[in-house]
Amino acid sequence: MLSITCNSLEFGRTSLDFVACGCSSNDHFSVRNCSKGVLRNVDGGCKARKSLCHRREIGRCRVFSTKTPEAFLNGITTGPPPVIELTKELIKLPTVSDLFEVVAHDLHTLNKNLQSIVGAENPVLMSAAEQIFGAGGKRMRPALTFLVSRATAEISGLKDLTKEHRRLAEIIEMIHTASLIHDDVLDESDMRRGKKTVHQLYGTRIAVLAGDFMFAQSSWYLANLENLEVIKLISQVIKDFASGEIKQASSLFDCGVDLDEYLIKSHYKTASLIAASTKGAAIFSGVDADIVEQMYQYGKNLGLSFQVVDDILDFTQSAEQLGKPAGSDLAKGNLTAPVIFALEKETKLRDIIESEFSETGSLEEAIDIIKKCGGIERAQDLARKKAVEAVRNLQCLPSSSFKLALEQMAKFNLERIK
Ligand code: IPE
Ligand code: IPE
Ligand code: MG
Ligand code: MG
Repeated sequence: MLSITCNSLEFGRTSLDFVACGCSSNDHFSVRNCSKGVLRNVDGGCKARKSLCHRREIGRCRVFSTKTPEAFLNGITTGPPPVIELTKELIKLPTVSDLFEVVAHDLHTLNKNLQSIVGAENPVLMSAAEQIFGAGGKRMRPALTFLVSRATAEISGLKDLTKEHRRLAEIIEMIHTASLIHDDVLDESDMRRGKKTVHQLYGTRIAVLAGDFMFAQSSWYLANLENLEVIKLISQVIKDFASGEIKQASSLFDCGVDLDEYLIKSHYKTASLIAASTKGAAIFSGVDADIVEQMYQYGKNLGLSFQVVDDILDFTQSAEQLGKPAGSDLAKGNLTAPVIFALEKETKLRDIIESEFSETGSLEEAIDIIKKCGGIERAQDLARKKAVEAVRNLQCLPSSSFKLALEQMAKFNLERIK
């Protein structure tokens, strides 16, 4: 768990290469009421500085990484032109439960198991877990796990899902839920899945502990699967979550953030887990490495498309529609795809963002600029491009109702922003 608080800024390791938050050293950031301190020693003596920013009575820290974007995502914005015109096929699409109908029975069993595997050791953690599991959620990641499991099981002649497939789906949803609990603490969000968030109900301490507990519990179940490749895959995902949250926290209100960095962050926060869900499912079906790789790429492209759509919806939907606060990404300085595209067009936007919306009405003005200068449309194009790539990754699968549902999932996601 990445814990960013004003009183005790900790990253748990020194190798992340952080520099001070820039309250005073970065001229283009105007931050009021800053104080500085020294980060407590970590890993036996290596000190890093910390800076504390207090904005609008909310304690907040910003740290900056000096690392450059990783090479593995290089070229993510390039590639051959789409082979499928998705927009033409979006006329009548099923609902999410229609899509998952072919694995409805698997999802039903998963829902029953989830509550029990969270563990009954601590009643408070149990209640916290119940709050978020009981609030619903689309169960998209386990559904994708089941769909790929069944689509690939057909290839290797498996008659049914194995217990490893099922346990993987449970682990994945547990990790997702843990990441949401922590994400809501970091984003200071009070609503999730239409209900109060865990930290809103039980306080930040319980929310951090409940998230940690779920990460730990999922690791235990993961280890018991006794498949080293999957253990490495999922461990990387848990690390990626922290990296994604760190990246986001360290670039708030930073208008220098470019599309590649945004995609890397989105990979860490979202696509990594979805890619691991689909790849892990293929591994447990025992299919060839090239199919396993295509399933990873499918999950990654779908995950990126999904996060871009989520970021667009933050601008276009109400809190009621979202089941969580709307419009808060920009207000909190999280500059997502629509903003990054708009910044390329409209220089005035930079000044407004860098003033951290200190003037009344400036947030609304920024949103207006983003909408008027085509930021949303370009983000939609990006989401479409990633969805097209995801669908292309499915070409290696034989025709089946499961493959069809996987294709429709990519299109359904786009339907949300039509
Ligand atoms: C929310 O994921 C977090 C993002 C990656 C944007 P979901 O939209 O899948 O959340 P639930 O599980 O349905 O609530
Ligand atoms: C995705 O990012 C969250 C995680 C995968 C942890 P967001 O911060 O955009 O998710 P929402 O909008 O809060 O659901
Ligand atoms: Mg969030
Ligand atoms: Mg969001």
